[in-house]
Amino acid sequence: MSSQNIYILAIESSCDDTAAAVMHNGKILSNIVASQKIHEAYGGVVPELASRAHQQNIVPVVDQALKKANVDKTQLSAIAFTRGPGLMGSLLVGTSFAKSLAYGLDIPLIDVNHMQAHILAHFIEEENFKKPPFPFLAMTISGGHTQIVKVSSHFDMDVIGETIDDAVGEAFDKSGKILGLGYPAGPEIDRRAKLGNPKAFQFTKPKVAGLNFSFSGLKTAILYFIQREVKANSKFIEANLNDICASIQYTIIGILIDKLKLATKETGITHIAIGGGVSANSGIRQALKDGEKKFGWTTYIPKFEYTTDNAAMIAIVGHLKYLEGDYAKQNVMASARLKL
Ligand code: KG4
Ligand code: ZN
Repeated sequence: MSSQNIYILAIESSCDDTAAAVMHNGKILSNIVASQKIHEAYGGVVPELASRAHQQNIVPVVDQALKKANVDKTQLSAIAFTRGPGLMGSLLVGTSFAKSLAYGLDIPLIDVNHMQAHILAHFIEEENFKKPPFPFLAMTISGGHTQIVKVSSHFDMDVIGETIDDAVGEAFDKSGKILGLGYPAGPEIDRRAKLGNPKAFQFTKPKVAGLNFSFSGLKTAILYFIQREVKANSKFIEANLNDICASIQYTIIGILIDKLKLATKETGITHIAIGGGVSANSGIRQALKDGEKKFGWTTYIPKFEYTTDNAAMIAIVGHLKYLEGDYAKQNVMASARLKL
C-alpha cells in the first residue's frame, strides 16, 4: 500500500440504487445507499422513474457520504463513477455528476466497470475478510447479472460463462411473481425455503452447453406447473408455498453449483469468490460451504453491504486505478452495454 493519503469519492447509479462512498487508502469510511422504493408497485425497475429518482437523490447521498466520512471535498484525490453496464438514463446521472465534480475540484476522474467492481469488492480492506489469491473464479449473481469470470489479476478478467437470457435474481423474482409474492421475491423465497421440502417438486434443469446459463425455461416450467396444479386445486399455492419455494431454490442452486463444478474442472482453479444480491441467499452460502468439504473449494463471500449494488465496490476500483494513474478523460461517455 502506498504511503500517501488517497481519498476516493465513488458514485454508483447503474440501476435503481443511488449510492456514494468515501474510501481512504482502501478502507471504507462511508457507504451510503438510497434504494428506490417506487419500483415495488411495478414488480420490476422502471428505467424512466429510476433516472428521475437518481436526480433527486444524488446530491443528498454524496453530501451524506462526505459528512459521514468526515472528509471535506477539498481533501479528495479523485472521483470514481460507474460508467456501465446498466440503464442509460441512470448511468447518465452519475456520470454527469462525477464529471462536473471532478472538473470543479480539478482532480482526476476515474471510470469504473460495474461488473469489475462486483468482483474487486473482495479487495476492500476489511477486518476478518480474506482476499482471494490470483487466479480465482468469480461468480456474480444478482437481479441483473449472472457471470463466471476467471480473474488473473485486478485488471485481467475473462468472462468464461454468462446467462443467455434471464439473470439468476430474475429467476427468483419472476418465480415469486407467479406465486403472488412481492418484489423482489428472492429474500422471501429464501425465508420460506428454510421451512419447506426442497425435493417436494421437481423442475428440470436447463441443458446449456459449457459454462453459460439459462433461466427463462425454468420460469416457464414453473408457470405451467403452477397453472396446472391451481386448475386442479385452487388452494394449491397457499397449501404448498414453502415446499414450492424450497424446490425452486433447490433447482436454482443446483444449476449454479453444477456450473461452478464444471468451471473448476476446466480451469483447475478452486478459489471461488461470489458477489451480487443473490449471494445473500442462505441456500447458496450453504452449498458453497459444502463445496469446501466435498470438492476442496475455498470460497469467499464479501460483507453483505458490498454484495448488493453499492458505491464501496466502485471506490475500491477507483483506488486501484488511481494507483496505476489510469484516469478517464472529461469526454468519457456512459455505456449501457459496457463489457468486462
Ligand atoms: O445486487 P442486487 O441488489 O441488485 C442488482 O440486481 O444488481 O440484487 C438484487 C437481486 C434481486 O433479484 C433479489 O431478489 C435477489 O438479488 N436477492 C435474493 C436474496 N436477496 C436478494 N435472491 C435470493 N435469496 C436472497 N436471500
Ligand atoms: Zn450489480
